[in-house]
Amino acid sequence: AEDGYELWLRYRPLPADQRDRYAGATTQLVMPTPSPTLVAAKDELLRGLNGLLSQQPAAVESVSAPALVIGTPQSNAQIAQFDLGLKGLAAQGYVIRHRPINGQATVIIAANDDVGVLYGVFHFLRVLQTQQPLGNINITESSRIQLRMLNHWDNLDRTVERGYAGFSLWDWHKLPDYLDPRYTDYARANASIGINATVLTNVNANATMLTAPYLEKAAALANVFRPYGIRVFLTARFSAPVEIGGLKTADPADPGVQQWWKAKAAEVYKFIPDFGGFLVKANSEGQPGPQDYGRTHADGANMLADAVKPFGGTVIWRAFVYSHEQPDDRAKQAYDEFVPLDGKFRDNVLVQVKNGAIDFQPREPFHPLFGAMPKTPLAMEFQITKEYLGFATHLVYLGAFYEEVLRADTYRPRQGSTVAKILDGSVHNYARTAIAGVANIGTDRNWSGAQFEQANWYAFGRLAWNPMLSSKDLAEEWVRMTFSNDPQFVKPVVAMMMKSHEAVVDYMTPLGLHHLMGRGHHYGPGPWVEGGPRADWTSVYYHRADANGIGFDRTKTGSNAVAQYAPPVAAQFGDLKRVPEQFLLWFHHVPWDYRTKSGRILWDELVYRYTRGVDTVREMEGTWQGLAPFVDAERHHEVAAFLKIQEKEAKWWRDASIAYFQTFSKRPLPAGFAPPE
Ligand code: GCU
Repeated sequence: AEDGYELWLRYRPLPADQRDRYAGATTQLVMPTPSPTLVAAKDELLRGLNGLLSQQPAAVESVSAPALVIGTPQSNAQIAQFDLGLKGLAAQGYVIRHRPINGQATVIIAANDDVGVLYGVFHFLRVLQTQQPLGNINITESSRIQLRMLNHWDNLDRTVERGYAGFSLWDWHKLPDYLDPRYTDYARANASIGINATVLTNVNANATMLTAPYLEKAAALANVFRPYGIRVFLTARFSAPVEIGGLKTADPADPGVQQWWKAKAAEVYKFIPDFGGFLVKANSEGQPGPQDYGRTHADGANMLADAVKPFGGTVIWRAFVYSHEQPDDRAKQAYDEFVPLDGKFRDNVLVQVKNGAIDFQPREPFHPLFGAMPKTPLAMEFQITKEYLGFATHLVYLGAFYEEVLRADTYRPRQGSTVAKILDGSVHNYARTAIAGVANIGTDRNWSGAQFEQANWYAFGRLAWNPMLSSKDLAEEWVRMTFSNDPQFVKPVVAMMMKSHEAVVDYMTPLGLHHLMGRGHHYGPGPWVEGGPRADWTSVYYHRADANGIGFDRTKTGSNAVAQYAPPVAAQFGDLKRVPEQFLLWFHHVPWDYRTKSGRILWDELVYRYTRGVDTVREMEGTWQGLAPFVDAERHHEVAAFLKIQEKEAKWWRDASIAYFQTFSKRPLPAGFAPPE
């Protein structure tokens, strides 16, 4: 069935002309496989060629016809004889080159390590899948980011926090004895886009994960993932020494606690020798942490770092912190708590920062921590699962948004220091680099809850490999592999994806508005939400609409959060005249009759944008309707039905938001705008 299970690794037969040109170039194969990773690489190659070309290359030792030669200089003697430019590659990098061998045209896929070879094979298959020329192929790929990780927010009962694609893939009940074949397909999919680490468990961690029976289960998963270059990480609940260790305290300064974590780390490494390390959420949203004992984030992180250090492990400490005791603008808390700790973390600690300072909103300015911690490697945390963006049913291509954030200029220490360059270590010489994405993967047949959600997983992985890539190019790659290479299909679908992020911002939170979703579930409009346990879980806290205007004043006259940015950025965001309009109400409280760039007053502009968002979704529906001839009925139908849901809910957002804000603005709908249907 065309249910999307195969993701972008479909390997359907190419059209005859394409097939012939590739088949002619791949008649023989020289590829010894002395390791499980090389076996996986070869399996994938044969699976791909079989599907795409209906041809298996003949395995040979010496080339006598156009051939593929694949491996490392160690695994393949043919490769050792050429200077292929492998020297400068980062770990897991690879090259694909054209070289004559024995007078025959040969494509060489080579790397310094076996995982690089596997990645090179996936890249080569992608060249065929997207029907690119092979003639003078000359590819050098070297990742700019060392750790490219998925964060699963998966609970041990298999529910997934903020997951909209079914239940957790990890079948703890049947592990370690039954290995669902899906684990291998998961690893293949991730390896195909360069993801090399996975955190199996929720940041709101359950200490039970760190008990021996569960470690044995995690080890079974690690064994499946290892050939694909994927290292397993786990979340560590800070209070585990009390909860499962029988200690009275989890104080990181307590020698007994330190000892407990050292022993626990040693135990974990007995189960999983190449265990990646711990991801920790501490002192945030009520989770336990070092501050419970009057210690700092650095004290907590360093204790864990010391425990995993002898085994080569890493601690990834999250900067997503806020607490009810803190009455100040929530956007400021992470910066305030972490900047003073710069330089105080062990060298095997990374601090993982969400892309923005609030919480995965449809659009946020980049987090002011990026660039502000020159002595502490900072990792990016993107959300792939669409907690605040309509869950899986709304078609929103996040690649465009990731790119927007990665290209933002922090101006720290100077112009050109983009978020991407902070992350890849080039600005501050970070010894460690990482990009994480909160996974959108579950037990749904299509993995991600919707066909187009797969594109967000795909784009995330490719951008984690190289944050300088263009999200539009990635959309095109994905469309070609997932659906069709027909330009009559590719062009409109890519265009639709590229405008989809702006559309959701328009119909949910235009002009820098944020956190207006229903409380708790975060689905659907709730700009009226007030009261409850804490101010910053309400929408009125964020939009601050009143008779005069709307928006959160984060300038000097307000919370002054803007001062956390480098001076040139702060000057721009803090200036009503210069702030990019997409962040207008993020930083400013603006009168309803303020003249926006379009010439419309703010109220009219707000209505205009809400309306434009709905209109864009309608256009997307129209585009997709016209593309039925290019897609199997099953996937076409699913996407069309979801777009209908999206349209319905975009209207819901538009109408509810306009009606609610109108109670403050007391202004009529601008001429030409229909009243709510
Ligand atoms: C958001 C989300 C929570 C999650 C938290 C986090 O607040 O709603 O479910 O636990 O982020 O990232 O820690």
